[in-house]
Amino acid sequence: MTYILGIETSCDETAAAVIKADKTTVTVLAHVVNSQIKIHKQFGGVVPEVAARQHIINILPIVDQALKQAKLTVKQIDAIAATQGPGLAGALMVGFETAKTLAWLKQKPLYEVNHLIGHLWSWLLPEVGKTEPININWPFIALIVSGGHTELILVKDFINYEVIGKTLDDAAGEAFDKAAKIMNLGYPGGPILSKRALLGDKNTWSFPRPLLQQPDFNFSFSGLKTSLLYKIKALGNLNEEQINNLCASWQAAVIEVLIEKTVRAAKFHHAQAVAVVGGVSANQSLRQEMAVKCSLNNWPLLLPKMLYTGDNATMIALAGFISHRLGQQALNKNFITTAIKPNLNI
Ligand code: KG4
Ligand code: ZN
Repeated sequence: MTYILGIETSCDETAAAVIKADKTTVTVLAHVVNSQIKIHKQFGGVVPEVAARQHIINILPIVDQALKQAKLTVKQIDAIAATQGPGLAGALMVGFETAKTLAWLKQKPLYEVNHLIGHLWSWLLPEVGKTEPININWPFIALIVSGGHTELILVKDFINYEVIGKTLDDAAGEAFDKAAKIMNLGYPGGPILSKRALLGDKNTWSFPRPLLQQPDFNFSFSGLKTSLLYKIKALGNLNEEQINNLCASWQAAVIEVLIEKTVRAAKFHHAQAVAVVGGVSANQSLRQEMAVKCSLNNWPLLLPKMLYTGDNATMIALAGFISHRLGQQALNKNFITTAIKPNLNI
């Protein structure tokens, strides 16, 4: 059994977690996430320097809280996993350097984790205090949809992944946030827009389905933002019902493209399952419509529990364990001189 302390500070969540895992099961012992949403709300978006400063204030209390929740000391932990990238440089530095310091002081291995690989395995995580089997149908297709990324990954085993498609411009979450800003819906845009969409009729207006006719697995969402802008200009002053209908119609375009390309990729690569992960995987319409498509094709749909859709350290701890223990990826023995990688890719 391996006990792992996870640390995540790539954007505006200061998070720490403890998991216990072996070859076949994972148990979540602690899951602590401190969101800075309220602080960044006044600026209408994440301010990197403010995020880093908040991480500095919060990181040690959050790590302490996670260890207390798990009823363990750092000494009893077997390894420390931390997000190395991608993300905001100043923000990443706080968590990663804290992890390095703890690992060095307590002579523990450091698992350097790619944030996106954290999301990739987040569907395996059980509720806090519970245990789930690590049971995987290879290969599977993962749609990673977050604020900074939209990628289709062919996952062949624990460490072999291939990016088979990605966004050519805005990420899906970013598109949601920008669309919400255009309609003055508030911050953070994605969750607000998706709630308004539930109240509207998606057949009211028709928005383009970017790149749907292209045979590749790439996405493009920046044009959808522009068509929304034109539609709003044409409509003039909007009432609440019109806003709900716009949200529903616009969201339907994004979801249709995400689902259609994922289904095509899964068919093309003879996938045994489909995973949808990242912040946008919290979207109820996306979850429901993807479930329908997957059941038609007999693919298990792998979705993270709602508490693991957004950024958290529990997925970072699990990704560290999976890469280094199950995938036997070599450990960096000289981690004292390693640094963050803000532009890290898969
Ligand atoms: O994975 P995440 O927490 O952070 C990044 O790694 O980027 O994703 C955050 C993104 C934001 O753009 C947010 O608006 C979006 O996920 N999001 C949603 C929903 N909940 C969060 N987008 C659409 N519908 C939602 N319900
Ligand atoms: Zn994320």
